[in-house]
Amino acid sequence: MPHHPDNSGHEPQRPAPEPDSTTEPVPLSVWLGAQRPAASQRRGRYLPDSTTHPAKMLPAVAATAITAYTQPGELVLDPMCGIGTTLVEAVHAGRDAIGIELEPRWAALARDNLDHAQEQGATGSGAVIIGDARHAHALVTDPQLAGRIALLLTSPPYGHSVHGQVRSTRDSGQPGVHKSDYSYGKTPGNLARGSHQRLLTGFADILAGCVPLLRPGGIVAITTRPFRRNGHLVDFPGQVWAAAQDAGLEPVQRLVALLCGIKDERLVTRASFFAAHETRKARAAGLPLHVTAHEDVLVLRKSPPAPVDHTDEGGTPGNMQ
Ligand SMILES: C[S@@+](CC[C@H](N)C(=O)[O-])C[C@H]1O[C@@H](n2cnc3c(N)ncnc32)[C@H](O)[C@@H]1O
Repeated sequence: MPHHPDNSGHEPQRPAPEPDSTTEPVPLSVWLGAQRPAASQRRGRYLPDSTTHPAKMLPAVAATAITAYTQPGELVLDPMCGIGTTLVEAVHAGRDAIGIELEPRWAALARDNLDHAQEQGATGSGAVIIGDARHAHALVTDPQLAGRIALLLTSPPYGHSVHGQVRSTRDSGQPGVHKSDYSYGKTPGNLARGSHQRLLTGFADILAGCVPLLRPGGIVAITTRPFRRNGHLVDFPGQVWAAAQDAGLEPVQRLVALLCGIKDERLVTRASFFAAHETRKARAAGLPLHVTAHEDVLVLRKSPPAPVDHTDEGGTPGNMQ
């Protein structure tokens, strides 16, 4: 429609358009995590040494969680921060971030990745504490931080069946594959070492210890997936979901983060050589497995303060004294 100014010389005042709730995009419970392969998501944004960590979160998944649950200037915590994916994505998105990591090697890499993000113009600030996150309350001692965290985003470690670095040995003249040692580290408090029960209990302790650091209504987002141990399927997401509720968190939603891409209406695999190899081996042995192409994202929150009930004000109801 042509627009005619009136003869007062001013543009006529038009009412501000009402937000149209029917056309606002509604976020879906399926997140795209791997439209680009992991290596290309990290190239240039993370230091090359980052590839040596056995179980990194996809940067796109971390970035989606951070924009979904926080505003610029808010504070994000990862109590098992590895090479610092949560922290790097947070500072790039203008949030501040704190990481805890037990293994000095990964903590150093997380700090270097944060410095690298700052050199690239990230506006948030980040810090990494070396220590056992089961004692998070004793590690994060700054009274300015307690009760201020808007989002805790993390992923617990898994067993060997999920992670590993396998290379073809064809190049060295021998057919087959070689699985190299690809562990998180050897520090005794490392939850990836020891029994599955120790991992679950330890993870619940970490969450419980972090609850006082969250602000009321603060979100906890955990990326996790099932794995196989001794040939048996372990419903790790279900166990972590229960452990998080035992730690006093309130369930919000369970989402899916795709670990594959979507192109021309088809799913595109991003499976590692290791994952494809393990799945083929299982299928050859008669177990009809599929390569895992998604992760669970478990979303919980610290209960917001209970609303104040004013209905009783001004008198003693009924038979109560
Ligand atoms: C699945 S990885 C997290 C990777 C991280 N999301 C990233 O993208 O780099 C889990 C991390 O927890 C660390 N970890 C294990 N036990 C820990 C503990 N008790 N306290 C703190 N960190 C721990 C491991 O060293 C490992 O780096």
